[in-house]
Amino acid sequence: MINLTGIHKSYSVGEVLLPVLRGVSLNVNAGEFVAIMGPSGSGKTTLLNVIGCLDDVDTGTYTLAGETVDQASDDDLARIRNQHIGFVFQLFNLIPRISALRNVELPMIYTGEHPAERRKRALQALQRMNIADRADHAPSQLSGGQQQRVAIARALVNNPELLVADEPTGSLDSATGHEIMMLFHELNQAGTTILMVTHEEEIAAHAGRIIRLKDGLIANDDGA
Ligand SMILES: Nc1ncnc2c1ncn2[C@@H]1O[C@H](COP(=O)(O)OP(=O)(O)O)[C@@H](O)[C@H]1O
Ligand SMILES: [Mg+2]
Repeated sequence: MINLTGIHKSYSVGEVLLPVLRGVSLNVNAGEFVAIMGPSGSGKTTLLNVIGCLDDVDTGTYTLAGETVDQASDDDLARIRNQHIGFVFQLFNLIPRISALRNVELPMIYTGEHPAERRKRALQALQRMNIADRADHAPSQLSGGQQQRVAIARALVNNPELLVADEPTGSLDSATGHEIMMLFHELNQAGTTILMVTHEEEIAAHAGRIIRLKDGLIANDDGA
């Protein structure tokens, strides 16, 4: 499903070019649950953003679900993201002043879904995450774990085949983090491919495969 070959990416910081990914090659099959680990600054978020089509690359090739990503225009990248990928972040990234239900409806506004259908599917996604009883609450009225459930519901509402998660348990206590991992297991069992960055070994142990990055290169991959 994911095929990266020789990916290089640098950031320019003032006059200096900072190499962050220095030749990453990686294949992920549909249905895998992969954890990406590595020290702070090793390029985990950058790699996840490349895979999530949020960021472009300098050189190398990337195909996702048969689509060529490395040559795609910004419009194409947006379409590929909307069709194939759901995102979950460490700080949940919910819109503060609207309800949980409205937050989950947002991705369907871009796809032009009818309002009644939107509401129905948002409620179903919240039910799947066991948080439908909080549909009318604003994010500030929810605990961290509850906010992350809403965020996962939002990520899933357009039925993406790939879920990309950057430190999804990084703001949660360990019991709540494990509850979120149970939800990831259920999603993975139902067929969703998952790529997750974490620095916690206990969280990574939930994945079927662990990739370790070091200085912008894959240092170890137990699934390769
Ligand atoms: N937008 C950016 N501009 C400049 N440097 C960046 C940017 N994003 C990340 N970096 C740098 O790239 C390196 C890798 O960052 P990142 O991928 O966030 O690492 P990780 O997630 O493993 O901590 C770090 O040195 C970071 O400071
Ligand atoms: Mg990071």
